[in-house]
Amino acid sequence: MSGVGRPGARPVSVPDGFLLTNIGELTTNVAVDGDRCGTLRDAAVLVEGGRVVWTGPAARVPDAARPGSAESAAARGGAPAVEVIDAGGRAVVPGFVDSHTHLVFGGDRAEEFAARMAGEPYAAGGIRTTVGATRAATDDELRARLGGFVAEARAQGTTTLEIKTGYGLDVETETRLARLAAEVTDEVTFLGAHVVPPEFADRADDYVDLVAGDMLAAVGPHARWVDAFCETGAFSPAQSRRVLEAGRAAGLGIRMHGNQLGYGEGVALAVALGAAAVDHCTYLSDDDVVALAGSDTVATLLPGVEFSTRQPYPDARRLLDAGVTVALASDCNPGSSFTTSMPLMIALAVREMGMTPAEALWAATAGGARALRRDDVGAIAPGARADLVLLDAPTRVHLAYRPGVPLVRRVWKDGVEA
Ligand code: NIG
Ligand code: FE
Repeated sequence: MSGVGRPGARPVSVPDGFLLTNIGELTTNVAVDGDRCGTLRDAAVLVEGGRVVWTGPAARVPDAARPGSAESAAARGGAPAVEVIDAGGRAVVPGFVDSHTHLVFGGDRAEEFAARMAGEPYAAGGIRTTVGATRAATDDELRARLGGFVAEARAQGTTTLEIKTGYGLDVETETRLARLAAEVTDEVTFLGAHVVPPEFADRADDYVDLVAGDMLAAVGPHARWVDAFCETGAFSPAQSRRVLEAGRAAGLGIRMHGNQLGYGEGVALAVALGAAAVDHCTYLSDDDVVALAGSDTVATLLPGVEFSTRQPYPDARRLLDAGVTVALASDCNPGSSFTTSMPLMIALAVREMGMTPAEALWAATAGGARALRRDDVGAIAPGARADLVLLDAPTRVHLAYRPGVPLVRRVWKDGVEA
């Protein structure tokens, strides 16, 4: 990790921190001896200034952090003793990193969902319904809705969220959505290339010109990433490439929607462009898997989509066995996956996609961090942000073993309890 403290460095004072101790199972994601999750038993975490400063056995907490000890009092120069939080033998995991959401939108599509559950197929065109409702919503309405989703996600253990535009599809509304997203996260993605809006019907290339031109110029300053939905019914590989290369030239990182509804060139394009991640990956050829395995592009799997669209789940086992880095994300949006629950993604990945509980937890935390090219989240390691989740369970396995049960007991973001 870059930007982190020296392993083993001893804090001399913890005036604005806390000691979370008596942790039955701590998932650090600092790999050790073949355990990618870096699991510690009977552990403690020391937090200072919003960052993790030490992790280790509860019986070997640094002297300077021991409340009430003469040494700690001296080291703190008389400052109050560090707060001690007793985890009661429960499990602690890193905050979830949800690297793919579409949380700024108006309306919902419950009727479309009901029709699908009665046999209708999912189609990309439903996005236009939400575009209409989003354009009609005021900033305050969108902001209130977004705030509700962020709180909902946080209560379920998500401490880092990526949020895409993509339900505006005109310069003014896409810019509004990016500004609103930027109020709640640094991980804003410009998705003007979500679908061709109705006013450009039969003029898709003209719309691509707008997205890669004036729309990018207006939205780019509020975003970190550019994305394109490369799929039949949305944008061709050539159109997607045009938008993504324009975004890159404007200083944005590349991520993509690809291979969601069928086989295609999305994954190959993402790898060729050096995308940080290609998301969905439901239909993959052997060549796609080989290309991903030989790249730095993360395959982000979104099982909430398959759950909500009755599509076949992606084969995570195939990707993991090939050496691909896999992330899990919610894809929360009103059409294909209307849930913010990362514990649900973990349960689905374990039950339906061939992942072990440890692999799924890693993918929902460290995997999401890789997908966002972040080294300050997704792990509980010295120097990392103190984004911690205390589970109401003795192990992380319970996240899949007890599906649908609210197991997130307490959440800290940057060392502050949510
Ligand atoms: O990631 N695939 C494209 N976009 C969303 C769906 C958006 C919608 O149906 O409103 C997705 O699944
Ligand atoms: Fe999506």
